[in-house]
Amino acid sequence: MAKHFLALSDYSSEELGGLLALAAKVKKNPGEYRKALEGQTLGMIFQKSSTRTRVSFEVGMFQLGGHALFLSGNDLQLGRGETVPDTAQVLSRYLDGIMARVFAQKDVDDLATGTIPVINGLSDLLHPCQVMADLQTIQEHKGHLEGLVLTYVGDGNNMAHSLINGGVRMGMEVRIAAPEGYQPVPEIVEAASKLGKVVVDTDAAKLCQGADVVYTDVWASMGQEAEHEARLKLFQPYQVNGELFGKAKDDAIFMHCLPAHRGEEVTDEVVDHARSVVFDEAENRLHAQKAILLHLMGGVAI
Ligand code: CP
Ligand code: NVA
Repeated sequence: MAKHFLALSDYSSEELGGLLALAAKVKKNPGEYRKALEGQTLGMIFQKSSTRTRVSFEVGMFQLGGHALFLSGNDLQLGRGETVPDTAQVLSRYLDGIMARVFAQKDVDDLATGTIPVINGLSDLLHPCQVMADLQTIQEHKGHLEGLVLTYVGDGNNMAHSLINGGVRMGMEVRIAAPEGYQPVPEIVEAASKLGKVVVDTDAAKLCQGADVVYTDVWASMGQEAEHEARLKLFQPYQVNGELFGKAKDDAIFMHCLPAHRGEEVTDEVVDHARSVVFDEAENRLHAQKAILLHLMGGVAI
């Protein structure tokens, strides 16, 4: 059975640590892996927009000696009702791996019923590739992950869920400051709480105190555009501005998966701050994903 990358909760702490070590190695010595995926093709299915995910996977496959094929969800027969499991069987006959950005997590899970590795490039529920790049970035700036406090401020969305899953597995305390009704799904919080410390509260200032990392994301995710106006008002107390970022430790770093809606969830002052690492995070998408591709499609052990 092919190994997939659908959710960080499918991976142990040791495996995630191994992937992060591989990502660091790939970043340091990219030339070593120039032919690792020679002759292989990754299909990239996008039901939603993307800048970082599309470009970093396509460039990553090229740098590993392989090829990436962009497949818009609307142009595939998927958009006209061909089932996901049938699509998975067909694509398995041509491709060596699939990366998919979807609405329903079930779609990416169903793609994994084919015979080739499938990578979750974001669903409404999870964004595991982003968090691998985030963990790599935190490790680079802080030297370690164990014992750090990461406070995520805003919507309890796909980013919050994957940060919880990844953070606790690497020994971090993950705090989520979100308004009532927009908090992370209880099943994810409960499962992660068995592995580490997860705090969920409505008080952003309280949860930022003593944080090593302050993280935020857009208030209305892809697919929630109609709620944008209503959410602007509701989430105002969760804006990461100079005052809120100032509650964290003096050497705290600011993170955002991007794209940022400047002036909404984060002010220019914070996103452009000397301790903002948002573009390092974006760069690390490339390195972290090359590690995932090498492991799943190139048989590189972690
Ligand atoms: N952070 C992220 O996944 O960016 P894109 O939506 O541009 O891929
Ligand atoms: N929560 C955001 C993340 C974008 C990378 C969204 O799903 O749109």
